[in-house]
Amino acid sequence: MNNFEFRRLQKRDAEKVHRIVAREGSFRVSPSEMSVWHAQEIVDWVESDDPCYGALRGDDVVGVCLAHLHKAVRKLHIENLRVDVEWRRQRIGNRLLELTIARARQQVAGGLRVVALAKPDNIAILGLLRAAGWTRGDAVVWMQRDVGPPLDLHEKDVRQ
Ligand SMILES: CC(C)(COP(=O)(O)OP(=O)(O)OC[C@H]1O[C@@H](n2cnc3c(N)ncnc32)[C@H](O)[C@@H]1OP(=O)(O)O)[C@@H](O)C(=O)NCCC(=O)NCCS
Repeated sequence: MNNFEFRRLQKRDAEKVHRIVAREGSFRVSPSEMSVWHAQEIVDWVESDDPCYGALRGDDVVGVCLAHLHKAVRKLHIENLRVDVEWRRQRIGNRLLELTIARARQQVAGGLRVVALAKPDNIAILGLLRAAGWTRGDAVVWMQRDVGPPLDLHEKDVRQ
């Protein structure tokens, strides 16, 4: 853990963040869903007020936590928590999540609900969240409807 620097992501990290989130498409929730963000979207995101943290090893980004903070309703959505496969199980994911939540707490007065979507077979993220005291929500059912051109076309575009 001592070899890693944890800090808020910055514009100059965007290409590296893009690479790490593009490496696997595992966070999409259906086969047709767009699986990665464009590099420019990541630039806009890390330049916004949203809490987004990275774990760095030298110049390399080895882990990220990207989140959206919805201040009006005091909800923090963890959109992507990811650690490079070679650096897993060193508490990096846990630390990134803690820092992201701590930052959001500074931005919002009072309590905060933190939510994350996880596939039921994603043992790693479910293990991490349960170990950190998270409980399974039961307030919503995931519904979806695709509109416009087929999403898989967009996905090809994104992966270029
Ligand atoms: C989920 C992920 C971010 C975890 O990162 P990590 O740095 O390896 O996790 P940590 O080392 O902080 O783990 C903290 C705790 O979570 C639990 N945990 C983590 N990975 C686990 C696994 N594969 N199986 C079971 N429990 C696990 C353990 O309790 C662990 O503590 P321990 O190692 O002391 O037992 C990483 O596996 C990953 O990038 N997965 C692919 C991306 C993904 O699916 N992200 C989630 C959807 S956004």
